Amino acid sequence: MFRPHSVTIMSASLEQLVTLAAADFAAATEPAQLEDAKARYLGKDGSLTTQLKALGKLPPDERKTAGAAINLAKQAVESALTARRDALQSAKLNAQLAAEALDITLPGRGTERGTIHPVMRTLDRIEQLFRSIGFSVADGPEIETDWHNFTALNTPEKHPARSMHDTFYLLGNDGKPHEDVLLRTHTSPVQIRAMLAHTEKYKDAAAIPELRIICPGRVYRVDSDATHSPMFHQVEGLWVGKNVSFADLKGVVADFLRSFFESDDLKVRFRPSFFPFTEPSAEIDVAFMSGALEGRWLEIAGCGMVHPNVLRCGGFDPEKYTGFAFGMGPDRLTMLRYGINDLRLFFDGDLRFLAQFH
Ligand code: FA5
Ligand code: MG
Repeated sequence: MFRPHSVTIMSASLEQLVTLAAADFAAATEPAQLEDAKARYLGKDGSLTTQLKALGKLPPDERKTAGAAINLAKQAVESALTARRDALQSAKLNAQLAAEALDITLPGRGTERGTIHPVMRTLDRIEQLFRSIGFSVADGPEIETDWHNFTALNTPEKHPARSMHDTFYLLGNDGKPHEDVLLRTHTSPVQIRAMLAHTEKYKDAAAIPELRIICPGRVYRVDSDATHSPMFHQVEGLWVGKNVSFADLKGVVADFLRSFFESDDLKVRFRPSFFPFTEPSAEIDVAFMSGALEGRWLEIAGCGMVHPNVLRCGGFDPEKYTGFAFGMGPDRLTMLRYGINDLRLFFDGDLRFLAQFH
């Protein structure tokens, strides 16, 4: 039970009043109820307020003691009120804390960090390896002219690669395919652009310094299955100089492949083939001597010695200069390096696949 400390000077009725108020406050379970209860004692017409007002009617000698007793009772009621207010407030806070409980030991949701696309990783790696042996990186447009993509590469007018079934042509203003403008079908047109940009800088045709470039980029063909996609990547390589030979081609490519796959346990084969822009020409196959792909040969590039007509289109005199070129498929190199069996996974944009490459 609530008991104010100076009970002695409080009348019995005041003491009762304080007890009653404390019980009333304790019964209030909501702040609004508590404020109603407060009004009954301390409000304008509250019982303690009424008693204070009545003091004036008492004779002066009684007024002082009675006033002191009422004030004491008022203080007791006020402190009971404050205590109940605090109790209600902390109960409310505790209920809220319990309802909004947060397990701070759970891992945060965070923001996922992006990863580099596996094919881009391969391209970076290829650039790095070729830069280390003195090649620079050249670039060319994906929308190419018929001349750069075919004609200058010694590809005759009736060659099947030029057909609508194999090449994406752009539409002219009349809505018909524009025969001179197409999406490049390989990175080989960059050979022509790079040679012209290089040879045009020199007046003496016999004193042109050698040219060593690679060109990574996107190419387009009317093609779609597990190992062919309508958009894919190639990396062109070109080395033109005096006395550049097929032996240089073999050495550079075999060395590159061993570094790329970080394996000396790798066989490289040059299989005779045909390209209009190289003579002789070959396809490059690799075979692994261990692991899941043991013993299987896989084509990863086409290559050859640059055809004299192509050298001429690039501004080099084929009597004085020779060169080799290759065009490889970094998508296929990526499939081999990571053991991926469907090329289309690279271009679907499925994060469950892409996020595996850290
Ligand atoms: C060419 O494109 C020649 N320009 C390569 C070349 C360059 C030969 C310089 C001689 C000198 P080919 O069509 O074989 O050749 O393509 C070369 C490589 O690109 C292939 O070995 C393969 O790895 C890759 N490739 C070809 N078509 C696709 C495709 N649809 N999807 C994915 N990769 C492909
Ligand atoms: Mg081929």
